[in-house]
Amino acid sequence: MDGVAAMTVPLISPSILSADFARLGDEVRLIDAAGADWIHVDVMDGHFVPNLTIGPGVVKALRPHTTKPFDIHLMIAPVDGFLQAFADAGADIITVHPEAGPHIHRTVQAIRALGKRAGVALNPGTPAKMLDYLIDDIDLVLVMSVNPGFGGQSFITSQLRKIEAIRRAIDKSGRTIHLEVDGGVDLTTAGACVRAGADVLVAGTASFRGGPAHYAANIAALKAAR
Ligand code: DX5
Ligand code: ZN
Repeated sequence: MDGVAAMTVPLISPSILSADFARLGDEVRLIDAAGADWIHVDVMDGHFVPNLTIGPGVVKALRPHTTKPFDIHLMIAPVDGFLQAFADAGADIITVHPEAGPHIHRTVQAIRALGKRAGVALNPGTPAKMLDYLIDDIDLVLVMSVNPGFGGQSFITSQLRKIEAIRRAIDKSGRTIHLEVDGGVDLTTAGACVRAGADVLVAGTASFRGGPAHYAANIAALKAAR
């Protein structure tokens, strides 16, 4: 189990929450060129989480700046009414929280009906068993290793057990489902995430630290962390 996971080189999905918002298009180009596998976009509504960020208009404006997948993390409630707008804006993966609407299975179906990959995000207090009846219909699980709302928070270690449990459930399902970790992922925590079974790491602070001259080294170091 551990042997297989330990060999995984994770995909890195830098969160543009830590980029310079005044020059977001350039930042996306630079982080793409530095080796980002996906571009993680944190959408917050000031209601589901205590912070406000960006909407589908910004996603649409960024779309011409990269061909990398847009990994859209929706922290908005109710979420269903915005799925179409993010799909139209150029999302590739749309990830939602079960707490952001009354019918998570229906929401997942709606994302797939739009032709997009569907992800489910679990907050630190949300158990892995939430996925029991979703696993056949999703393309990604996002484990939040901080409470959603802000970049730069400390990794909550208890989430490693949840990553391990979800890795077992994914392997048992036999389906191709990404297991992504989001929050406080840096050189001290990335290795433990990969060993626990994650194959995609979101990193905001750790990707953008030090400015553009450091992006490639930041991403390479995250990929190599064990
Ligand atoms: C938190 C967001 C994360 C966050 C990650 O609500 O979902 O993507 O920006 O930031 P870092 O990597 O700085 O913890
Ligand atoms: Zn996120």
